[in-house]
Amino acid sequence: MSRVRLLFALGAAAAWMVIPLAAQHSYGPADIEDGGKLFRTNCVSCHGPEGTLVDGVDLGHGKFRRASTEDGVIRIIQDGIPGTAMPPNNFSDFQAGTILAYLRSVASSGRTALPNGDAARGKAIFEGNGGCTGCHRIYGVGSRVGPDLSDIGALRRVAEIELSILDPNAEVLAQNRYYRVTTKSGETITGRLLNEDSFSIQILDTKERLLSLQRTDLRTAGFLSESPMPSYRDKLSKAERDDVITYLASLKGF
Ligand code: HEC
Ligand code: HEC
Repeated sequence: MSRVRLLFALGAAAAWMVIPLAAQHSYGPADIEDGGKLFRTNCVSCHGPEGTLVDGVDLGHGKFRRASTEDGVIRIIQDGIPGTAMPPNNFSDFQAGTILAYLRSVASSGRTALPNGDAARGKAIFEGNGGCTGCHRIYGVGSRVGPDLSDIGALRRVAEIELSILDPNAEVLAQNRYYRVTTKSGETITGRLLNEDSFSIQILDTKERLLSLQRTDLRTAGFLSESPMPSYRDKLSKAERDDVITYLASLKGF
């Protein structure tokens, strides 16, 4: 399932709503997802995952101080704001529009407040009975089988972290998908695809072994759409999940 469905699942009315902008284009779910990727890559370092980190600016509620029209916002995204830290970006009108559509979808899905959990308890659960370090690494501690979460709080909205824990299959980012091969001798290997070329592929398997396999030895190979991560909806209590979410939201990298 895509990030877009995630956003709408979080509170808006229709699961496959299209965000209409006044401009010529309308932006479908895939465009909004692309806009979210551009936002995470180019904007969260200053604006934060919720768009609230720059003083006086709130990008995720659909209103802008500096622009009253959509074209105006698109121009800000392209040209930056001279004399401020807001840099110009080399995006086409359409790309800038996908970012705006993403920000609108955030606005329409509402915000999830940071739960009132205890980060220290969350860390203990993460490393203890939650079993999260069996797959994830934070600040050098834990496994590399799943994504490193050391800066998850700087990259993801609280609502996204929460959904990853409740329903891991709701959105699996392309770069996080697991890869599975079956060999001609009948072995099945699952893990993260690190590298591939026309002759071989390299996988970090679920036991953290780095394996290099010849394509001619393989019967099947492909990404899994399912997340290997279990849902913690029933494995952790609401209070425990709140502690873990509070802990993860506090992680901003080294
Ligand atoms: C290097 C830091 C930095 C980066 C990266 C950055 N911005 Fe900004 N942005 C700012 C600052 C600072 C302001 C506030 C400028 C002011 O009004 O004084 C701002 C303002 C804005 C505004 C105007 C807000 C309003 O209320 O009118 C928009 C829209 C915006 N940024 C979008 C983006 C988008 C989209 C990206 C990514 C493509 C991005 N910014 C990347 C620093 C940044
Ligand atoms: C069996 C391995 C496994 C376990 C155990 C596990 N995860 Fe995951 N987790 C993954 C994988 C693989 C992904 C990436 C695919 C996906 O998005 O589901 C992931 C994704 C995530 C994400 C989203 C990362 C992103 O970049 O958006 C978060 C947050 C997360 N896990 C938190 C946790 C927490 C908290 C626990 C323990 C309560 C946990 N995980 C336990 C394997 C695991």
